[in-house]
Amino acid sequence: MNKHDGERVAGMLEALGAHEVADADQANIVVFMTCCVREAADVRLLGQVASLKNLVSNPIIAVGGCIGQRDGEKLVQQIPHIDVVFGTHNIAHLPLLIAASLEDGSKQVEVIDDAASKELSVDIEAATDLPTQREHAWHAWVPIMTGCNNFCTYCVVPYVRGREKSRPIEDIVSEAERLIGEGVLEITLLGQNVNSYGRDLFGEPRFAEVLRAVGATGVKRLRFTTSHPKDLSADTIAAFAETPSVMPQLHLPVQSGSNSILEAMNRRYTAEQYLKLVRAVRKACEEQGKDVVFSTDIIVGFPGETEADFEATMDLVREVGYSQAFTFIYSKREGTPAADMTDDTPHEVIQQRFDALVELVQESAYQQNQRDLDTVIPVLFEGTSKRDPKMLSGKSPKNQTVHVPLPQGSAAKDYAGSICEVHINEAKTWYLRGSLV
Ligand code: 5AD
Ligand code: SF4
Repeated sequence: MNKHDGERVAGMLEALGAHEVADADQANIVVFMTCCVREAADVRLLGQVASLKNLVSNPIIAVGGCIGQRDGEKLVQQIPHIDVVFGTHNIAHLPLLIAASLEDGSKQVEVIDDAASKELSVDIEAATDLPTQREHAWHAWVPIMTGCNNFCTYCVVPYVRGREKSRPIEDIVSEAERLIGEGVLEITLLGQNVNSYGRDLFGEPRFAEVLRAVGATGVKRLRFTTSHPKDLSADTIAAFAETPSVMPQLHLPVQSGSNSILEAMNRRYTAEQYLKLVRAVRKACEEQGKDVVFSTDIIVGFPGETEADFEATMDLVREVGYSQAFTFIYSKREGTPAADMTDDTPHEVIQQRFDALVELVQESAYQQNQRDLDTVIPVLFEGTSKRDPKMLSGKSPKNQTVHVPLPQGSAAKDYAGSICEVHINEAKTWYLRGSLV
């Protein structure tokens, strides 16, 4: 979501004549799109803003995103060289705020609350109308909803992004059609909880309809993030399996494999229900000839997590066989219910659990990648590999990174943004290697 907001900020500023530069010390305007899901991101913002203090170019510094929403006025008091603060609902006004600050050197802070944003429909308008500077010409993020109603007890998102607001389905489809007309091959539908798309508009979720409608626009690759297991309906599973452009990778955050921790997290499903969903998705995909993989998010060290709770998470990870997992050590966030829970597991124990989980996830990713050895898969190329300019890199349908040698006499740009068949010769933990067919 933040990456997409960043692309919109860049698009708006470019529409007004600004252009992107490589380093902050060449810039007149620096905009931070911030995250406060975990403490590390908070700390990083402070360090990065501090590092801009003595630049000769003396840029305008704007801070937006979740920290802007949460701290508002406090930020300019705490860090005097911040010029502009804007909240998660105020993106569309950023150019005005920057212009006002440039004009008279004043501090500009605009953070409206969720109720006001709803009244003014600013999130939805911003989602539909803002110009966007996309990172890759062939990939676009398309927000289908903003906010979250779930209040998982560890999570700050509902407080900084507000309640769920869905975009009308016609807007989503017409944006997808416009993007495809511009040469976009891959669309990622965005929302904190895409599975409950439409609940606020129709009284019931209609995400399956969005998948089918966007799938019918001719988009080559369709992805979405993030799904909450409690809202993954049979209809959505069917649409996921049946729509050919929907890529065979499902990101389904589980957070924990222990039922008592899931309850304390307010996730509203059990490990058994989660596994049942995984089986249902596998079966539906098998029937359509789709070889699906699962990825997930897991938190280690939630308050009160015992060794047995952690072992339940390890068992679930073994059972699902994830292709990828984002693993996090629990980070206490002020104002969330979990911040008041007794948290007495020593840090070393949590770190040991975390390390064991990371090792298991790596093993699982390796095993999943082995399944693709000696197969031919379509790869959407992005450019040269970061490590080796003689290798081309791209993404498989399952979202694996794939490297192939750049053919003699060709340039990476000849391949970037095109889909080519690749024979897989080597399967490692985090990438596949192959040759162009
Ligand atoms: N501590 C650690 N991880 C968190 N996440 C959200 N809140 C916290 C927190 N307080 C993780 C969850 C979520 C992902 C985006 O970030 O796993 O799915
Ligand atoms: Fe946070 Fe839970 Fe909402 Fe995800 S579903 S954004 S973890 S509150």
